[in-house]
Amino acid sequence: MVKPFNILSNRKGRVEGKAKVTGKALYSAEYELPKLAHGVLVGSTITNGKIIGIDTSIAKEIPGVIDVLSYWNKPNIAALENAEKRKDFPIHHTFFHTTKIDFNDQPIALVVAETLEDASFAASLVKAQYEENKDMDIDFDNVRKRVDLNDMKDDRGSSSNWQNAPHIVDQEYEIAMEVHNPMEMHATIAQWDSANSLRVYDKSQGVNAVQNNLGALFNLDPKNIRVTSEFVGGGFGSGLNMWFNTVAASLAAKQLNRPVKVVLTRPQMFTMVGYRPESWQRVKIGAATDGKLLGVIHQSKHTKSQNHHFSEGITAIAHKVYGFENVQRNATTVPLHLSSPTWMRGPGDSTGTFGVESAIDELCYKMDVDPVDIRMKNIAPYEMQTGNPWSSHFLDECLQRGAETIGWENRPTKPLQLKEGNWYTGYGMAVGLWNAMRRHAGASIEMDKKGNLVIRTAMTDIGTGTGEAIVNMAHEFLGIPREKIKIELGDSIHPKAVTQGGSWGLSSLSGAIAAASTALKEKLATYASTNDQQWKAASIVLGENEISMQGKPDQKVTYASLFTKNNLDTIMVEEYSSAGEEREKYGFCSSAAHFYRVKVHALTGQVKMDRMVIVVDAGTIVNPQAAANQIIGAGVGGVGMALTEKQEVDINSGRLVGNDFAGYHVAVNADVPLIEVSFIDKPDPHINPMGAKGLGEVGLIGAAPAITNAIYNAIGVRFRKLPVTPDKVTSSFNSSA
Ligand code: MOS
Repeated sequence: MVKPFNILSNRKGRVEGKAKVTGKALYSAEYELPKLAHGVLVGSTITNGKIIGIDTSIAKEIPGVIDVLSYWNKPNIAALENAEKRKDFPIHHTFFHTTKIDFNDQPIALVVAETLEDASFAASLVKAQYEENKDMDIDFDNVRKRVDLNDMKDDRGSSSNWQNAPHIVDQEYEIAMEVHNPMEMHATIAQWDSANSLRVYDKSQGVNAVQNNLGALFNLDPKNIRVTSEFVGGGFGSGLNMWFNTVAASLAAKQLNRPVKVVLTRPQMFTMVGYRPESWQRVKIGAATDGKLLGVIHQSKHTKSQNHHFSEGITAIAHKVYGFENVQRNATTVPLHLSSPTWMRGPGDSTGTFGVESAIDELCYKMDVDPVDIRMKNIAPYEMQTGNPWSSHFLDECLQRGAETIGWENRPTKPLQLKEGNWYTGYGMAVGLWNAMRRHAGASIEMDKKGNLVIRTAMTDIGTGTGEAIVNMAHEFLGIPREKIKIELGDSIHPKAVTQGGSWGLSSLSGAIAAASTALKEKLATYASTNDQQWKAASIVLGENEISMQGKPDQKVTYASLFTKNNLDTIMVEEYSSAGEEREKYGFCSSAAHFYRVKVHALTGQVKMDRMVIVVDAGTIVNPQAAANQIIGAGVGGVGMALTEKQEVDINSGRLVGNDFAGYHVAVNADVPLIEVSFIDKPDPHINPMGAKGLGEVGLIGAAPAITNAIYNAIGVRFRKLPVTPDKVTSSFNSSA
């Protein structure tokens, strides 16, 4: 048996670790700028209607208040003229250029003051007049019933091919609204260095994206905008967009001609930076007597806002994981008077997987077959959407290893079998899959005369360990000792790189680091070669003090003499890379198998995670510690999705209820056991030079259904609506017992 990765004995640290724990690392709100003013956003108190006036007179009397920006007092931005009629800018960019109110807490003003305290107090004194429209859509359950699904799409085959399948499950599944809540609040500091030059520190997953968005708003060449996001305290997708805080700080800094900082409050983190939309889905699956899955119908609906189109592919998973010959899908979005949802870890697929993996579990109990066997038998033999062979795909090994680790063979195959006192024990499993993507990314390497390297890229590290992974990759490609490598990330002055997200960060960067490493070796070969001695780039090894040739111990030259001979201060290379034609030939995915054991308390309804085994195929594991961190964090997120996380909305007013850490329960360490993570760790032969497939999302996808499947195994109650809070457990358990 392969031992799971042991996080406790693999503490290698991270390049940025010391800076983070000593407070030296600067997050976006922490830069000190001369004459920095503090802005606090004021949200609307109505949910639907129009703002017709604003009274800032009392707020302005507070000593220290500098100005209050609003629809009636802001720099006019040409790009946003007629904002109400235009669809090309979302509300989180146009909010001061429109009077329309579409959700509660929609920003209507920014109070700017000398201190945060003055600004916060004054913000509470801003009064607005509204024309309120009480006719609004808030209740997802209600509104979704009058929104029709789009036309059914026959992705493959037809549902008539399996209408007489001997075993059919047809059920509906629902997931509550969930909020990202990274530890670091979204925050921006903006400063105009001149009328055409903007400097921004912004909590974001992608500095180039913010640069381009601000360029479009202010009609500036992105080159004249510098965006820094050097340290990021988590994102989970909330940092994929540019939100209200960035625009408000930039507008205020322009208006006041001094730097302005805007930091969201924790409650504003629930209304101003997106969330995972509440969703409904129907999954119908048919199987033959031998366990072959014949077909699937997958339908879904999820929330969106009034003013910004967002749709995530909840049903996309239907034809990815299993070799269904018949796949029919349709979906739609349900516009509500709520703020805009956005991508949140495992967007679409983690939601869709809850439906599909629950339905398959239901089918297994109906048919009395092993949930592992049925999955083994039905794993998609190739990428079903394209017909391309998988480049690499080891879900079968994940399943085998997971089953072995948790002792699946010895589990009770029927509910209500294991009881100790008032605790029932149950076992459940599910799988997850995520497209392994690769995007355009660049990196530069600078070498000094001592052979020290600085590697730079605009890509951010949102806590995933990108920095340490870059050091590992450069060490791998160049052979240079880790201690000689420094990294600089998350700044638009560095080589452009795709936004970090979608589990493509490391996969995308590895091509750039490989290309820059090759370019560096080529330069070194040119500089080192003499008439007497030729150097071949491909065989250069970078040591502590010198470069040498592989297999030729005598051929070496020190960095010092190389730099002196060529009269160099530094050597610079900069390279970019993207996915290529391998994408036409192969299918790429990462996958995971979740095997969980839960205990369910018969009287209190508490569900305790007793064991969590997650086995992941994500190609080469570049940095085992950070990779395990990713999967552990994702697993904890899955526990939140299944058991604790639900943002309540007051359906009468459209206001969120309990939108803070007291009211909204994120799962934390105390809610999980030591999560047992292990990796297949086999390189993908085609995806990129490292063979790494990416793993941020896949640890969450499949986690929630593995939990509800385990609950079913424990107490015989099937939960199809998340989260499964103790009240739901006690009421269903007592009524069924
Ligand atoms: Mo991820 S939803 O791209 O942070």
